[in-house]
Amino acid sequence: MATRKVVLIGDNSLRKISKPVKDFDEDLWQLLDDMKSTMYCNDGMGLAAPQVGVLRRAIVIDVNNMFVELINPEIIEQEGKDVEQEGCLSVRTFRGRVERPYKITVKAVDRFGYPFVLTGEKWLARCICHEIDHLNGVLFVDKCLDKEKYLKQGGKL
Ligand code: NI
Repeated sequence: MATRKVVLIGDNSLRKISKPVKDFDEDLWQLLDDMKSTMYCNDGMGLAAPQVGVLRRAIVIDVNNMFVELINPEIIEQEGKDVEQEGCLSVRTFRGRVERPYKITVKAVDRFGYPFVLTGEKWLARCICHEIDHLNGVLFVDKCLDKEKYLKQGGKL
């Protein structure tokens, strides 16, 4: 496992739409291993492939000491609302409130291409939503309830 450099806000690659993963091969496994190590090294709860400069639909998360890799994730159900402060490894100097669904169900495949479904509440749901947004070029500051404060501080989008 190697740590990769985290791409920071202002870099255009964070604004691109990532492509589905098609090859479940050693390159993917290396990417996922490196993402895991990069996330832990930076004390993150989640990391999306575009944050290490790879525009593929792969995310890793660790919430409540549960590590999960989700490839080609898709939210198939959501309910409720929840507001909490979020941060992002690509936005170093700001945390702010974001409204997310309270509960979501996501379908994805694992690193071998096998499908699974995962239901999560609260922080697990929030973290998955945040990382899936990355795959669509969306950052939490875009939908942050404290966006004005962020912009006033000179924050970039
Ligand atoms: Ni993030």
